[in-house]
Amino acid sequence: MNFILRDMTDSDIASVLQIERQIHLHPWTLGNFKDALASEYICKVAELGEKMIGYTVLMQGVDEAELLDIGIALSQQRQGWGRKLLQAILTQAQELGKQRVVLEVRASNVPAIGLYLSMGFVEIGLRRDYYPVENSSREDAILMGLVL
Ligand SMILES: CC(C)(COP(=O)(O)OP(=O)(O)OC[C@H]1O[C@@H](n2cnc3c(N)ncnc32)[C@H](O)[C@@H]1OP(=O)(O)O)[C@@H](O)C(=O)NCCC(=O)NCCS
Repeated sequence: MNFILRDMTDSDIASVLQIERQIHLHPWTLGNFKDALASEYICKVAELGEKMIGYTVLMQGVDEAELLDIGIALSQQRQGWGRKLLQAILTQAQELGKQRVVLEVRASNVPAIGLYLSMGFVEIGLRRDYYPVENSSREDAILMGLVL
């Protein structure tokens, strides 16, 4: 089946939200995705045979970009699609002249950290007690960066 990456539009948000709510304990809201599109962040959806399987949102700075969100539908995870999606957005950032991509990730997010490390990201910082967790305690954010 064909893997296609295309720009996200407002009409994709409902499907994106379905995946987002499936894979995140603290999902982005409708408003978050609308704001991202309105802010002209680079928002992409990945399709496999016309079915949406993932998406990503990249915020552009002058010579740096920040990966704000990336997700692959639960049923499609661990088949290489996350790596493919991330590689595509990194290539696009490079083509836009960005020199570095940064991101922050929950310290407990083993799959995402595994993906980022496998793509060459390194830890560049730590924000203690940054994210809320269910039992009202907090969780560290790991800051990671990749020089393009
Ligand atoms: C992170 C995520 C996008 C990875 O997508 P994916 O398509 O499942 O990942 P891939 O199949 O491309 O895996 C690429 C690499 O990531 C790592 N990885 C992926 N899933 C993993 C898991 N469950 N446990 C450990 N490492 C994992 C591995 O290094 C893997 O390489 P390998 O298969 O050769 O070992 C996906 O797990 C996801 O959507 N998670 C929920 C949303 C999220 O946490 N996003 C990141 C927010 S910062």
